[in-house]
Amino acid sequence: MKVLLISSSARGHAIADAFARSPQKPDLISICSSNNPGIKKLSSRFDVGDIMDFGFIASIAKETKPDFAFIGPEDPMGAGLADVLEEINIPTVAPKKSLARIESSKGFTRDLLDKHDIKANPKFKVFGSTESSAMYTFIDQELRGEFVIKYDALKGGKGVKVSGEHVHSIEEGVEYAQRCIEECGKVVIEEKLVGQEFSLLSFTSGITTINMPAVQDHKRAFEGDTGPNTGGMGTYSDTNHSLPFLTENDIKRASEINALTAKALQEECGEPYKGILYGGFIAVKDGVRVIEYNSRFGDPEALNILPLLRSDFVDICKGIITESLDQSMVTFENKATVCKYITPEGYPINKDQQGEIVSFPEISEDARIFYGDISEDDDGTLHLGGSRTAGIVGIGDSIEEAEAIAQKLCEEVRGPVRYRKDIGTSEIVLKRIEMLDELRK
Ligand code: AMP
Ligand code: GLY
Repeated sequence: MKVLLISSSARGHAIADAFARSPQKPDLISICSSNNPGIKKLSSRFDVGDIMDFGFIASIAKETKPDFAFIGPEDPMGAGLADVLEEINIPTVAPKKSLARIESSKGFTRDLLDKHDIKANPKFKVFGSTESSAMYTFIDQELRGEFVIKYDALKGGKGVKVSGEHVHSIEEGVEYAQRCIEECGKVVIEEKLVGQEFSLLSFTSGITTINMPAVQDHKRAFEGDTGPNTGGMGTYSDTNHSLPFLTENDIKRASEINALTAKALQEECGEPYKGILYGGFIAVKDGVRVIEYNSRFGDPEALNILPLLRSDFVDICKGIITESLDQSMVTFENKATVCKYITPEGYPINKDQQGEIVSFPEISEDARIFYGDISEDDDGTLHLGGSRTAGIVGIGDSIEEAEAIAQKLCEEVRGPVRYRKDIGTSEIVLKRIEMLDELRK
């Protein structure tokens, strides 16, 4: 069994680790955009290169003849890497270009949900003309000045501007919307939703959609959810695979929305969506809405979810490819997880600590470490990159226990780094429960 993994970062390390735990002991052939020491250790062949260079990837694929490929990040999916690999007869766990629009075009996704009557959209409109008065009127009258502007293409998580946070007047919002249209032809303007965000990821063969444990991410850089947005500073998941602030109906509805969306994608694109479908949801006053869809594992979400996977990840991938995926192939441990990202002190504002030495404590049985932007010397010394360094995951019988495990390990990391102490603490979890209770009173 040979698996070709195109990935990088801590998410890639968590995926590689899930493959390495398979009883089928696959040979992992990895193509990475950086010299990730975690993925490298688990791979029988490891190449560093441009993962947007499909000729380079196809040449390694032709040479190594893997049984299947798995693509980690959204950029190569959005540009059609799954199409290229399928053309050379390598089944691929990742949506083809047309299906990957679920992440690469916010307008496509909003329109898809509407067209297929999946009632999970906020009020929204897609604009293609920079003429400002229609946008101004929509924001002012229909959204009552509470709005979100979304770039209609992949922008590394930096394309969304929320009123009151990133833009402070309708004029400023319209100006940004005009810039989006100039750059990518379209913009989505939508209602600003208030509630608690959560991620529900599913494995899908296009026919069957099977949930993973729900996760809550913390995007803000600093404690108390302050500071600039980041790729995600940490995450938690609960023993029952829901989250403490969600009702049974919320999780059931989110699960239903993922299944309906997979079906809608198949109808729209004429072929099944095969891979990971990541629903970014928000629990609001009267139910659940979709904030966005992603076509991949989340980072950090994958770091919480994959260590809990008890079943064989290779079998799940084969089930996705052959459309034989079913619930009996997917079991997760009923444990809670807390992931805290170790980052350079200056992240995400500056890269002043890049190159400095970092060291980690011995990782206990009830924890995992996944390497992100980090490099390793021949003698094993680790150096910081400019972005998120490593995710430390505690696994326990409650969120509290998992948090204590992750926190203790984070305290023992040496180097010019920081992390968010509050992620997964009872205090922050309780705040979320109270916020939603108050909203739904
Ligand atoms: P996205 O790239 O679509 O995930 O957006 C990034 C972040 O912007 C989300 O995690 C939310 O915090 C925020 N956001 C996006 N859409 C909305 C919305 N309609 N209402 C409120 N916040 C939003
Ligand atoms: N955790 C957010 C993302 O992966 O997009």
